[in-house]
Amino acid sequence: MTLKALILLSVWFCVFITEVTELQIICSSEPVQAVYSERVLLQCYLKPPLDAKSQTVKWTRGNDIVILRQDGKDNAGAQREHFEERAALSQEALSKGNLSLMLSSLKLTDTGRYKCSFITDNVEKSCYVNLTVGESDVIGSDQPVKANVGEDVILPCHLEPPFNVSTLTVEWTCNKTYVHVYRSMKHDPNQQDRRFVNRTSLFCDEIGKGNISLLLKNVCKEDEGLYICHVPKLHSQVRKGNITLKVDAAKHDTKQQFNGSSNNNTAKNTIGVIVGVIVGGIVIAVIARYWQNQRDSQVHNGYKEVFSKTGATFSPKRERGKRGT
Ligand SMILES: *[C@@H]1O[C@H](CO)[C@@H](O)[C@H](O)[C@H]1NC(C)=O
Ligand SMILES: *[C@@H]1O[C@H](CO)[C@@H](O)[C@H](O)[C@H]1NC(C)=O
Ligand SMILES: *[C@@H]1O[C@H](CO)[C@@H](O)[C@H](O)[C@H]1NC(C)=O
Ligand SMILES: *[C@@H]1O[C@H](CO)[C@@H](O)[C@H](O)[C@H]1NC(C)=O
Ligand SMILES: *[C@@H]1O[C@H](CO)[C@@H](O)[C@H](O)[C@H]1NC(C)=O
Ligand SMILES: *[C@@H]1O[C@H](CO)[C@@H](O)[C@H](O)[C@H]1NC(C)=O
Ligand SMILES: *[C@@H]1O[C@H](CO)[C@@H](O)[C@H](O)[C@H]1NC(C)=O
Ligand SMILES: *[C@@H]1O[C@H](CO)[C@@H](O)[C@H](O)[C@H]1NC(C)=O
Repeated sequence: MTLKALILLSVWFCVFITEVTELQIICSSEPVQAVYSERVLLQCYLKPPLDAKSQTVKWTRGNDIVILRQDGKDNAGAQREHFEERAALSQEALSKGNLSLMLSSLKLTDTGRYKCSFITDNVEKSCYVNLTVGESDVIGSDQPVKANVGEDVILPCHLEPPFNVSTLTVEWTCNKTYVHVYRSMKHDPNQQDRRFVNRTSLFCDEIGKGNISLLLKNVCKEDEGLYICHVPKLHSQVRKGNITLKVDAAKHDTKQQFNGSSNNNTAKNTIGVIVGVIVGGIVIAVIARYWQNQRDSQVHNGYKEVFSKTGATFSPKRERGKRGT
């Protein structure tokens, strides 16, 4: 074999190898939206999956190093202070070629374009993920909420985008008095106005999803007004939401107002009852009169029976006829 042939063969071999193992690095194609103080996973992975545990993995934003992993450990000295203790790669995921970055305690200034790099010997593969960190606002209701006296009502209020407020304080007020206060992960009855005791609650399972709607039971006319849901320590420009509650005084009146046919039925029923009473009265009067007559004739017949001893069956008409003759 000549040297030339050997070189040709090795070149062909190298091409073949790189073609077979053409390594790709893939990032989330969609920009990622996250909420202040929460955490986010910036997805990045190798295809085909390759054990990256002892390779060099680097995340950067502009010139700043977010995290650098070399020779199986994090190079903390190279990391930008801004990301200290907030950036992490998963050891287990790395072994499956998953280079995703977990960024926690998000700051608004974390917004930017992140570069995920995988470096072997002299080859660098990289891709980009865009991250936007925003605030979550408190949203009430534009439309007034309506209820009838005696009903239970939900006053809607939530955070958008969804934000877990379970460790924050939530205050519901109306006319500057406390309707419901949620503090230290539970209802705090200390400041609650007497009128609302035992009548209010939040939906425990919903608070983690940023839903701080209030359940108000057995509403009365005096509950009407402008309600405010407030998350005082929320990192946002909008920490309050408004909800107007309107209460209809008489439950049954309003129901009939909205149901024409039910109203008609009631009218028909009323007429029916009146007609029934009149007809019934006439019938009773006629029967009473009949019995009166019969009793009178029985008295007469009684005397006749005693004296004439005629048959037991007779008709008063015949008797009357007889009497007439
Ligand atoms: C990468 O690993 C993270 C856990 O660190 C996991 O949540 C994510 O789903 C993984 N991504 C892929 C594409 O497997
Ligand atoms: C990410 O943001 C940059 C500008 O910062 C923009 O040029 C690029 O198109 C964005 N990429 C995606 C996937 O949104
Ligand atoms: C609230 O409920 C508790 C326990 O059921 C009861 O002891 C208390 O009297 C109630 N308070 C009011 C104002 O209804
Ligand atoms: C909200 O945060 C609390 C406290 O950190 C946690 O226990 C709960 O699981 C979280 N809920 C959701 C839906 O993330
Ligand atoms: C909040 O929770 C209440 C009660 O489960 C539900 O009726 C309401 O639709 C929820 N609101 C949002 C925005 O999810
Ligand atoms: C709020 O004030 C209005 C007007 O003074 C009153 O009609 C309403 O009953 C009050 N509502 C509450 C819940 O205090
Ligand atoms: C809520 O009500 C207050 C007082 O009436 C008003 O100043 C504010 O603009 C309202 N906010 C919204 C979001 O409607
Ligand atoms: C309205 O009237 C109809 C017909 O009588 C009845 O079926 C329906 O239940 C009524 N609805 C209400 C809210 O009363």
